[in-house]
Amino acid sequence: MFQYELPISVSTLDKQELLPAGTMITEQVVAEVAALGRMQSHQACVLLDYGTVATDLQRFLLIPPYCDIFADQELVCEIFARMQSVRLPLPLLQALDYFRQHDFHTYRHILMVFTLSSLLINSPLEEGQRTEADFMAGPSHDFGKICVPLHILKKAGPLTAEELDILKCHPMSGYVLAAYYLGDHLHPAALVARDHHERRDGSGYPRGTTTLDPVVEMMAACDVYDALLSPRPYRPLSFDNRTALEELTRLAEKGTLSWTCVEALIACNRRSGADPNRIIVSKNVRGTPPSGNCYGILADESKNSVTVREPDPFSIPRS
Ligand SMILES: [Fe+2]
Ligand SMILES: [Fe+2]
Repeated sequence: MFQYELPISVSTLDKQELLPAGTMITEQVVAEVAALGRMQSHQACVLLDYGTVATDLQRFLLIPPYCDIFADQELVCEIFARMQSVRLPLPLLQALDYFRQHDFHTYRHILMVFTLSSLLINSPLEEGQRTEADFMAGPSHDFGKICVPLHILKKAGPLTAEELDILKCHPMSGYVLAAYYLGDHLHPAALVARDHHERRDGSGYPRGTTTLDPVVEMMAACDVYDALLSPRPYRPLSFDNRTALEELTRLAEKGTLSWTCVEALIACNRRSGADPNRIIVSKNVRGTPPSGNCYGILADESKNSVTVREPDPFSIPRS
């Protein structure tokens, strides 16, 4: 059981308000939204066949460290075949167009979390084979960001407390939207959208729960890894790969992220086919986090200024 008060409304891209601001979200409320969604018919399409997704993805895979992680062409074919099974309702795919046009960071990030999670999905998790529904979770995890105003999503520098509250509503907004379009509030993609910022030590949001599904944990690790590797509006320089892996190791040691998933990501960076259960993880800290990182810093409301910065999403980060 949980309750969460929405700071802003949850609306679809075509401006249909599903829940107004101030709604107290409970599982029952989202179940009712899902029932409403089941009465609509939403055409589904293969994600990789949609628009420029496949060609954009090929370009993103040329950027380090992904060009090394995905250097094995046989592996790439196997993963793309797995990803080819993922069909999403058209409105969720149209949200990708929205991000591609207005917030390219989020667009690239959604596709890379999808690809990384497709690589990991059957390796680090203790429990059996995953279904197509689990694969849908990667591309759906951040769709709730369509409810966050672009000036907040793309703001360079620290957010105000109010802006941070609005940004932090994207997991619940994504949960509501995914439940609506998939017609199921218990669908794995809806649950991952809701829980991908939860942490196993309870330090996450929106619920602060410590009970996480293995697919959620894997998606959370992929989400953090790709976020560290990319330039972000709040951090002009990305982490180099070594420093990003050291940061993941630190978070796993602290009990924030799953060791199993972090080991799997480290194994991807070793020779092809390295067994995550047999690798030795170095505890030496040699990397240097990038300077100018505003993540976790709140702005002084009185001095708040809005600056939108759009770095080149195809730029090659330091490695
Ligand atoms: Fe997110
Ligand atoms: Fe994300």
